Amino acid sequence: MRSSDVLVVGGGIIGLVTAWRAARRGLRVAVADPEPGGGAARVAAGMLAAVTELHYGEQTLLGLNLESARRYPDFVAELEEASGRDVGYRACGTLAVALDADDRAHLRELHALQRQSGLESEWLTGRDCRRLEPMLAPGVRGGLRVDGDHQVDPRRLADALVTACERAGVVLHRTRAERLRVVRDRAAGAVLEGGAELAADQVVLAAGSLSGRLAGVPPAALPPVRPVKGQVLRLRVPAAYAPFLSRTVRAVVRGSHVYLVPRANGELVVGATSEELGWDTTVTAGGVYELLRDAHELVPGITELPLTETRAGLRPGSPDNAPLLGPTALPGLSLATGHYRNGVLLTPVTGDVMAHYLVSGELPPEARPFTPRRFAPSAVRLEQPA
Ligand code: GLY
Repeated sequence: MRSSDVLVVGGGIIGLVTAWRAARRGLRVAVADPEPGGGAARVAAGMLAAVTELHYGEQTLLGLNLESARRYPDFVAELEEASGRDVGYRACGTLAVALDADDRAHLRELHALQRQSGLESEWLTGRDCRRLEPMLAPGVRGGLRVDGDHQVDPRRLADALVTACERAGVVLHRTRAERLRVVRDRAAGAVLEGGAELAADQVVLAAGSLSGRLAGVPPAALPPVRPVKGQVLRLRVPAAYAPFLSRTVRAVVRGSHVYLVPRANGELVVGATSEELGWDTTVTAGGVYELLRDAHELVPGITELPLTETRAGLRPGSPDNAPLLGPTALPGLSLATGHYRNGVLLTPVTGDVMAHYLVSGELPPEARPFTPRRFAPSAVRLEQPA
């Protein structure tokens, strides 16, 4: 039986960054995934939107998001050096705009929350917004300029992580892990599809929305993650139209989030729906219609661009929208999952805190609020009648 110090179940960006960082710290690491570098990152737009995606009640998550955003430039430099690949990091900023009075009120509330949280964001008139981004619709009523919310290309990020893992000696088993191996009440590896067994001192479950489905995990250690579908479109900006947009532009249109993320290579990503439909990844006419309708209200010229791809992915949602990082109730089994809308943003900090945990057995302070134990059923004792 092949053995390693750490087996990571799941080779999306979260599993790969955990594996890469752990290998860099001297551990012998293996990953099990039929398609390393696949998963939600093949669909995601790659916004690093700690400030523009702030929500009430998510202040603790904000701290982790900001910490990961702060680490991004150094993380990218290190990964590009280790892999020899460009990951498409673009420090372009974001403009969140409002199209009607309701959207404007919503954006004003967001601005107030951002200021209370000590974040940098500037209120602009509609005219100022159009001065920054001339392709915006004349009806834009105002907006928030957030110069610190950037982007990365998640497909390139995933490909770079695969290469960095290979170069760091991580063994990639291109097979699905079917069942957790448990030996003497401790996680001890996994059984792969086809029956091969892998032994490991520690197992990290990092399988995105599938993390709650690995057979053999005791119920008390199973992560409460669920799939949240997002449909995303890709268009191409012909050279004659460039620069179509110079930064990410986003809005809430009739209650739905829409964003347009322009890459340096001419790709324009438009996302995303948010649908609680279980494991369904169908691209629907309705989803594509709504995204194009809302994007067209923001940037009418979008209808001139070639549509190159439509795709749906599954965000790993958790009960409080924050990730689950660290040990479970089963010794030897830890989690790195439940990143929901922030998987790409949280990649650097997740790699760092998981590697620290795997090496030392301790979660660093920035990760402690995200321990999976916060979802453990509280011990309720019923008084026995006398
Ligand atoms: N963070 C963008 C999304 O989840 O759609």
